[in-house]
Amino acid sequence: MRTLYVIGIGAGHPDQVTLQAVAAIGRVDTFFVIGKGEEKRELLDLRATILDRHAGAGHRVVEVQDPPRDRDPGDYRGAVEDWHRRRAALLAAEFAAVDGVGGILVWGDPALYDSTLRLVETIRGTQDFEYTVIPGITSPQALAAAHRTVLHGIGQPVHITTGRRLRAEGLGNDPTLVMLDGDCAWTTVPPDDVHIWWGAYLGMPDEELIEGPLAEVGPRIVARRAELRAAKGWIMDIYLLRRATEVPPLVIALPTEDRRRAVAFYRDALGLEPFGDLAGDGVPEPLQYRLDARTTLMLVPTGGFGWVLGDRSVATPGTSECLLGLALRTEAEVIAATDRACAAGATVITAPATQPWGFTATFADPDGHVWQLTVPS
Ligand SMILES: C[S@@+](CC[C@H](N)C(=O)[O-])C[C@H]1O[C@@H](n2cnc3c(N)ncnc32)[C@H](O)[C@@H]1O
Repeated sequence: MRTLYVIGIGAGHPDQVTLQAVAAIGRVDTFFVIGKGEEKRELLDLRATILDRHAGAGHRVVEVQDPPRDRDPGDYRGAVEDWHRRRAALLAAEFAAVDGVGGILVWGDPALYDSTLRLVETIRGTQDFEYTVIPGITSPQALAAAHRTVLHGIGQPVHITTGRRLRAEGLGNDPTLVMLDGDCAWTTVPPDDVHIWWGAYLGMPDEELIEGPLAEVGPRIVARRAELRAAKGWIMDIYLLRRATEVPPLVIALPTEDRRRAVAFYRDALGLEPFGDLAGDGVPEPLQYRLDARTTLMLVPTGGFGWVLGDRSVATPGTSECLLGLALRTEAEVIAATDRACAAGATVITAPATQPWGFTATFADPDGHVWQLTVPS
C-alpha cells in the first residue's frame, strides 16, 4: 500500500461526513474494516450507506477480525497494549498485501477514544507508506448540537473522560463529558447542584435525549437506558455533567523542617514540581504542589505550622495520623516508586508486599510523613 487515509465519518448520521472526507473516500481503492465480527446492524448500515454514496466504483472492502480480548484483566493497560499488538500484526499483513490507496473509516474522529492512529503508527515501524488523517464530527459535538448547548461556561475548560474513571475519581469542578460508560457511572456522583445532558444513538433514527437536574432525571435515564438496551440489544450513549457551583479546592498542609530538602525529595521521589513565586531561598513561598485540578499539597515550615495550630502541638516526626495515598496500576510501579523514594531519602516503613487491601508499600518522607503506594485488589 502506498498511501492510507484514516477518515473520521461522524458519530452516527450519514450527513455528518464532511466534504473533505467525501473527497478522500472517493480516492480509496481498498477499505480496511477492523471489526469485532459482531458489529451492530445500524453501524454496518451506516458504513454501507457512506460507501454507496461516496466510494469509487472499483473499491474493495477487506475485513480484519479483531483478535479476542480479555475483558476483565488484572493489568488493564498491559492487556490493552497486548491486544493492540495482536491487532496491528493482523492489519499489517493486510496492508502488505494491497497495492494503491487504502482507507480506514473511523467512527466520529480518530483523535478521540479510538486506537486506529496508534495501530497505524505501530505498523509504520515496519512498513513504509504515507498517511493522512481526515477529521470527523465527534460524539461530544453531536451531543452538544442535539441539546443546543455549549459544553462549558465562558472561559471554562472541559474535561473528557470515561465512565470507568468518573466512577473511580468522582466529578471535579470542570464540565465533564463522559463516554464509554457501560454502567451508569453518573449514579455514583452526589447529584445536588449537578445538571446532566444525556444522549443515546445520536444522529441515528432512534436518537434519545434527556436533560435536567441530575437528582431529578438521573434515575429516569437509568430506567430509560435499560429499556432501550433491552429493546435493541445494545446502546451507545454519552453525557455532559456540569456543576451549578464550584466545590472549593482541597489543600492538604504538612509541616516541614527543611523546605529545600522537601523540594528535592518530592522532585526525585514522586516527580512533583512546586508552583508559585520563589522566595529568597529559591523555593516558592508558600511551597505548594498541584496534585490534581482540585487538590494542592502545601509544605509549611514547622514553626509556622505550629503558629496556625494555636494551642495544639505539631506532631513529632514518627507520629502519624494521616496517610498520603497514591493508587498505582501495577506491582512493578509500586516497587520502582519505592526504590526511587528510598534513593531520594525516604525511610521504608513496610516493604512492597501483598496485603488484604492490595499490593502495597509505605515509606516516610524526610519529615516523617507517610506515603502509601497501592495497587488496589
Ligand atoms: C470508542 S468511543 C469512539 C468515539 C468516537 N471516536 C468519537 O469521536 O466520538 C465510543 C463512545 O463514543 C460515544 N458515542 C459515539 N457515537 C455515539 C452516538 N452516536 N451516540 C451516543 N454516543 C456515542 C459513546 O460514549 C461510546 O461509548
